[in-house]
Amino acid sequence: QRQAGIYKNIPPGPKPWPVVGNFGGFLVPAAFRKNNGQPYKDVSVLTALTTLAKLYGNVYSLFLGSQLVVVLNGYEEVRDALSNHPEVFSDRPDIPSISIMTKRKGIVFAPYGPVWRKQRKFCHATLRSFGLGKLSLEPCIQRGLLALKAELLRLNEECGGAGVDPFPLIGNAISNVICSLVLGRRFHHGDPEFRTILGLMARELEISVNSPAVLINAVSLLYYLPFGVFKELRQVERDITVFLKRIIANHRETLDPENPRDLTDMYLIEILAQQAAGEMDSSFNEDYLFYVIGDLFVAGTDTTTNSVLWTLLYMALYPDVQDKVQAELDEVVGRRRLPSLTDKGSLPFTEAAIMEVQRLAVVVPLSIPHMASETTEFRGYTIPKGTVIVPNLYSVHRDPAVWDDPDTFNPKRFLDDEGKLDKKEFFVPFGIGRRVCMGEKLAKMELFLTVSGLLQAFRFRLPEGKPPPSLQGRFGLTLAPSPFTVCVSARSED
Ligand code: HEM
Repeated sequence: QRQAGIYKNIPPGPKPWPVVGNFGGFLVPAAFRKNNGQPYKDVSVLTALTTLAKLYGNVYSLFLGSQLVVVLNGYEEVRDALSNHPEVFSDRPDIPSISIMTKRKGIVFAPYGPVWRKQRKFCHATLRSFGLGKLSLEPCIQRGLLALKAELLRLNEECGGAGVDPFPLIGNAISNVICSLVLGRRFHHGDPEFRTILGLMARELEISVNSPAVLINAVSLLYYLPFGVFKELRQVERDITVFLKRIIANHRETLDPENPRDLTDMYLIEILAQQAAGEMDSSFNEDYLFYVIGDLFVAGTDTTTNSVLWTLLYMALYPDVQDKVQAELDEVVGRRRLPSLTDKGSLPFTEAAIMEVQRLAVVVPLSIPHMASETTEFRGYTIPKGTVIVPNLYSVHRDPAVWDDPDTFNPKRFLDDEGKLDKKEFFVPFGIGRRVCMGEKLAKMELFLTVSGLLQAFRFRLPEGKPPPSLQGRFGLTLAPSPFTVCVSARSED
């Protein structure tokens, strides 16, 4: 393949196997072989991909079946592609198992072009407006925090020292923020409707990424098989469609254009405005809204939930850092009111600790795949049109060219000599360029308010007598920490 026609001057990479290319178990052994047969300490897909950069250079290629994939590693290479060549590298590939669900609409997997641009611009501006005014999400996040704290304490008392599993509680609190944003309401974590919709969305992702349903990418007709995960996938999609369509219909029937309650209302108002302006071919319609809502749930829940979980885990593993965060919170906020966004600027160490966790535990480590929309020359190589581009953000955050001692957990690296926050340009958990995360501001708000509110109230430690969880995590669609439990003790009010 590498010698043939359009693939002549492509970036170097391991030799692909017939039919399967370099994936499906062949990738990791390739990294092993090149290390003189010595196993790396920690061989996951992420370390294997990062290790291949040491062998082939920071821009290398792989084949996923017959699909050419170029992996970009290190800060310079990722920035060069996404910031300096945005017109070429901002498209998204058409991945059959995903396109079947998204119809290439919404924002996350929409092709780069005018429709994506208009939809993203509108949703981005709407999300920004939720930071302010009467639709502000701050009180909503704080209300969720109060419920979360009460539940954590209750379960901690019940568990008799074994520790509480924080996953479902944090997941519920974060999902409720998206529910408030999109559905205009919060749910009690035990609410059956809430449990059902979250369960369906999690199952849809699980099936489409981690089951034989991935074979749809090779043979798309498999999607219609009347049994097994294929049948289940179609049923789950039907259930999600019924739920979201009902939500949209309820919003339409109760819409008051003068008093929008949430993003769905604002989108419906935009549809009316475009109709009134005679925009007949506008992409703003209820069908598109359906996919936008789906995107916000998918992009905005697991990512932020895992970021909070990783932070709790690191705080329990590094009690000295936890001490410093709590000392700063005590000094700036005290214990009688919740931390608020206006405190953020006065809590540099707390922010630095959160950022350092995000640096090491990159929750979207391979970003979302990009695609070259035309054949181009990049850093001496030819990248053919249609090549899938994988920006390896994990490698950027461990790039020794820009980080001192990159594998060490050290929040102080984000502080300057005067103790002020130093936001480094090569800190890119939300990606770079035109496709940079649309929810960055909201995610930072949730992370700061939730983490600071929890650390203000509680001391977190790992239960005694259990080995600490590995920091390698589990890589599915996002990088989640391996399951762990924490013991929670309330810090006194004085
Ligand atoms: C895209 C990270 C939370 C909405 C992305 C990308 C990354 C990312 C790496 C891909 C960028 C690229 O393709 O180059 C994160 C992290 C989060 C987070 C680390 C939490 C800590 C959120 C939230 C929302 C959101 C809360 C919305 C409510 C989106 C959307 C996209 C996206 C819509 C697609 C943007 C596009 O294709 O134009 N995110 N995200 N994300 N994110 Fe996030």
